[in-house]
Amino acid sequence: MLFVLIIHLISITSVSTQSRLYGPGLRASFQVPVRYFYLQSYDSKGHKLNYSSQSVDHIIFHLTRVSDQLSVHSYRKIDDLNDGTYLFRYRLYESVENLHLYIRFGNEDIEHIVKGYIYSDGCYCPQKNLTEWFNSLECSSSSLSISQLREDLKLFNKIDMNKIINKAKEKYFQYPQTYALCHYVIKNNKIYRKCYGEHIGFKTFSDAVLLSLSRKIILPDIEFLMNLGDYPLSNDDDPIPIISWCGSEQTHDIILPTYEITEATLQMLSRTTLDIFALRTTHHLPWPKKIPKGFFRGRDSCQERLNLVRLSKKYPDLIDANLTRMFFFRDQKSEFEPFAEYIPMTKFFDYKYQISLDGTVASYRLPYLLAGDGLIFKQTSSYYEHFYRDLIPYKHYIPIKKDLSDLIEKIQWAKDHDDEAQQIVKRAQRFTQRNLLPNHILCYHVQVLQEYAKRLISPIKISSDMELVQHEFDESHIKKDNCVCHRLENLNHIDL
Ligand SMILES: *[C@@H]1O[C@H](CO)[C@@H](O)[C@H](O)[C@H]1NC(C)=O
Ligand SMILES: *[C@@H]1O[C@H](CO)[C@@H](O)[C@H](O)[C@H]1NC(C)=O
Ligand SMILES: *[C@@H]1O[C@H](CO)[C@@H](O)[C@H](O)[C@H]1NC(C)=O
Repeated sequence: MLFVLIIHLISITSVSTQSRLYGPGLRASFQVPVRYFYLQSYDSKGHKLNYSSQSVDHIIFHLTRVSDQLSVHSYRKIDDLNDGTYLFRYRLYESVENLHLYIRFGNEDIEHIVKGYIYSDGCYCPQKNLTEWFNSLECSSSSLSISQLREDLKLFNKIDMNKIINKAKEKYFQYPQTYALCHYVIKNNKIYRKCYGEHIGFKTFSDAVLLSLSRKIILPDIEFLMNLGDYPLSNDDDPIPIISWCGSEQTHDIILPTYEITEATLQMLSRTTLDIFALRTTHHLPWPKKIPKGFFRGRDSCQERLNLVRLSKKYPDLIDANLTRMFFFRDQKSEFEPFAEYIPMTKFFDYKYQISLDGTVASYRLPYLLAGDGLIFKQTSSYYEHFYRDLIPYKHYIPIKKDLSDLIEKIQWAKDHDDEAQQIVKRAQRFTQRNLLPNHILCYHVQVLQEYAKRLISPIKISSDMELVQHEFDESHIKKDNCVCHRLENLNHIDL
């Protein structure tokens, strides 16, 4: 027994632990659906490594509860970022007090204790103080500083829901084939809604993020209209505030992050495969080996996509663009066949230049393109997402005219200015790291709700035809018994 203990002590002390862990997932209060942190590897002399020294298959990553050393029910993933750092992500299926992280990296044992209560995303345990929540999510470090939101709210200093609903009845609810909207009420942190329209399936996206947020914080009491369609709606002389996923220069909707990036945030490592980390965690050709051409794959959602493919036939040395499917312009099918096979976005980055064209509205893939290591050529467009306002042409991307008439010349410019092109790519990647990570997406939602709620002047009413939106506990994963919540003791006034 003593002998075993001595061996054990020797084996621990003989390992020189060089590698360092850093990142928000080492703190309990950084509550995002999938927590993440990084490992920086070092060589034996204490120098940072800038290449992979370990295959992820050989790295061990365990999570245990400090109190009883039992393994914690979780999903874990390690990714090699190919620069001497590794990304560690974990989704908890139970809440834990004091979490022990153990990593075996080469011959190093690395340990860290996440102190405090670490709540699972699936558990109901809202916190009252929003300022504390924002701080713990490090949202103030985002350079977005909600400039889009400020712009969106300029017209709406006082929000009267009676007026909005009356107008919406007349303009939208009467046309269920054209419009899909939900009237949401949040009161005492419970979510109610009534939806209007024939195609209201996308309410699952707005429900999901509101529910997820309500499990983490006490949301402000609020009443609003959520547009479930692609097109922004608020377009007349006396506009009403409608919350939408996409904005345009002709409309006055209040913009949330798209359902696409929000879903990727909530369902990371679960139901979605593409998330904001995916472009860093897959291996791409290094810049000098990439094909120096403009690349595009996608559907025929707008006329310029067809024109781009025509342009690529004319300039095959500069552009590789093909449609993968046709739906809107089927009558012109013969010109574009055979369609290109679908390829995952990570393969797009075998090419240096990524051409970003509108879809039916803004193309929701832009966050991922920016996160990747290609130079973005973005079509000028009147449609935008919540973060476009903070993207700066020539700093984060190369702007191209809506009709693509300057595309060839700009690709040629990029080929002639390879160093500058790479600088732009690096800045775009940094932009996504500072503004489009899961914490930023959640914070932006809450900021929209908070700012909107402040402006409501009508009393908040749950009408009798509204439905309570329920938390869905996936019993195979989360058991209510595993959702201890010390905060609830202080929340007695709220009926759970
Ligand atoms: C990695 O570090 C070495 C030594 O510091 C340096 O010479 C090399 O250029 C670096 N490689 C990359 C890809 O940054
Ligand atoms: C919320 O937290 C902040 C920062 O910790 C603190 O300054 C503030 O007083 C708190 N607000 C309330 C209402 O407790
Ligand atoms: C896509 O288009 C380019 C240029 O028009 C062509 O050379 C290429 O073969 C096409 N690729 C596929 C997969 O269809």
